[in-house]
Amino acid sequence: MTIATNADQDRVIIFDTTLRDGEQSPGATMSHAEKLEIAALLDDMGVDVIEAGFPVASEGDFEAVADIARLSKNSVICGLARANFNDIDRAYEAVKHAAQPRIHTFIGTSPLHRDITALDMDGMVAKIHDTVSHARNLCDNIQWSPMDATRTEHDYLCRVVETAIKAGATTINIPDTVGYTAPRESAALIRMLLERVPGADAITFATHCHNDLGMATANALAAVEAGARQIECTINGLGERAGNTALEEVVMALRVRNDIMPYRTGIDTTRIMQISRLVATVSGFPVQFNKAVVGKNAFAHESGIHQDGMLKNSETFEIMRPADIGLSATNLVMGKHSGRAALRSKLADLGYELGDNQLKDVFVRFKALADRKKEVYDDDLIALMQDSATNAEHDYLQVRKLRVICGTEGPQEADLTLAIEGVDHSIDATGDGPVDATFNAVKMLFPHGARLQLYQVHAVTEGTDAQATVSVRLEQDGRTYTGQSADTDTVVASAKAYVNALNKLILHKHRGNLSELMQTAG
Ligand code: KIV
Ligand code: ZN
Repeated sequence: MTIATNADQDRVIIFDTTLRDGEQSPGATMSHAEKLEIAALLDDMGVDVIEAGFPVASEGDFEAVADIARLSKNSVICGLARANFNDIDRAYEAVKHAAQPRIHTFIGTSPLHRDITALDMDGMVAKIHDTVSHARNLCDNIQWSPMDATRTEHDYLCRVVETAIKAGATTINIPDTVGYTAPRESAALIRMLLERVPGADAITFATHCHNDLGMATANALAAVEAGARQIECTINGLGERAGNTALEEVVMALRVRNDIMPYRTGIDTTRIMQISRLVATVSGFPVQFNKAVVGKNAFAHESGIHQDGMLKNSETFEIMRPADIGLSATNLVMGKHSGRAALRSKLADLGYELGDNQLKDVFVRFKALADRKKEVYDDDLIALMQDSATNAEHDYLQVRKLRVICGTEGPQEADLTLAIEGVDHSIDATGDGPVDATFNAVKMLFPHGARLQLYQVHAVTEGTDAQATVSVRLEQDGRTYTGQSADTDTVVASAKAYVNALNKLILHKHRGNLSELMQTAG
């Protein structure tokens, strides 16, 4: 991997925190296997640094970071730690397996955060010195962050940054933790630190922006223009509250507007759609249709004038080509006569490289879909792949069989067979409509205290035989869990989405609460 040095001033390091800050989004809990799959793709597509998790948070987080560290080929693997020796030791234990490990330690430096920690300014400086020195004794690659930097007094920010550099930090990250800054201010802050802090020219400055006011991408790019050379970002902008800077946005902005922002990244942009779909599926956070770069409509041209212009010269209305981000140009229709080789090649076009066993399984699902639906479009295949990823063989709960009776004469009825840890259980339940009856049946077979917060249905394509993708969000103890599924039968998709959310809740019960840990940070 090539990391920017002073001799390589236009190279911007891409630091992806989908698996740490992204996973902190309420409801975005990911399984161990899902984290490994995302990390492998990030590593493959040229992400320089992967923040793989917060190892002290739970045994599950630790194992995920350690396995990602063991398996990474190119990327630096980073683990987060609060400003205490125990967190730092745990982070190092997890990342040490990587060819290139990094510890990222942080403390809240703004007046609000200092109040919470009951440390005065001098006390905090001493703590930063001790913890960064401790980390540096374990590992050569140390990142340090003054959390809430954009609301920290400038003089004090200079003092703590200088302390961290002297104690051995190699990257200083400047987080806009609450998404409060604006582009001009973001740039001025980096410039001020570069000018005033002794030793600043020997380390890399990073920018970490949250998107509360919709300015995360602009703030990150402004910081780069001022001298920051690492952008912290997540796929699809996933992250706490309104999310983080979106990787696809900064990478494509630097590529498309290289004329005015002459910086480069090491990202293979043709993998962007693939990673975007994977993250949307496993996090259960669908990408908004008009999302920049990766939204379903980002390359759609509806109006007559636009379509006419596109046919004559695509540059009239397109600043990037779909292929640049890995979108296939054609939407070839597949059907029940399409063979395995055609399916493999179509899925490869869509960014899914399948092994023989996986293809066998997906082919069976594809045939079942093609039997029910005359024409199978790209979006159908994507939904099918996402469904295979979210409803897996080894899940704690699995929908085996469902029959519903519905119509004008109520009450509607659902006859459900659910496998719980591999053992089938069946029940009949009634409800106010088929979905309500189905959810009641799930609840009777697997009683739980989670509250349904959101139930949402989207048609994947047009026509009455279209597949429906269903999202279900459950809430328990202040935490949310989002499940998704797709099927031509909306009620079946609903049952599977509900069960998918419950599986995530069950998974989370074995883990600590990240948000609580973050609040005690510093
Ligand atoms: O937003 C933030 O301040 C963070 C820190 C842990 C870097 O995520
Ligand atoms: Zn953050």
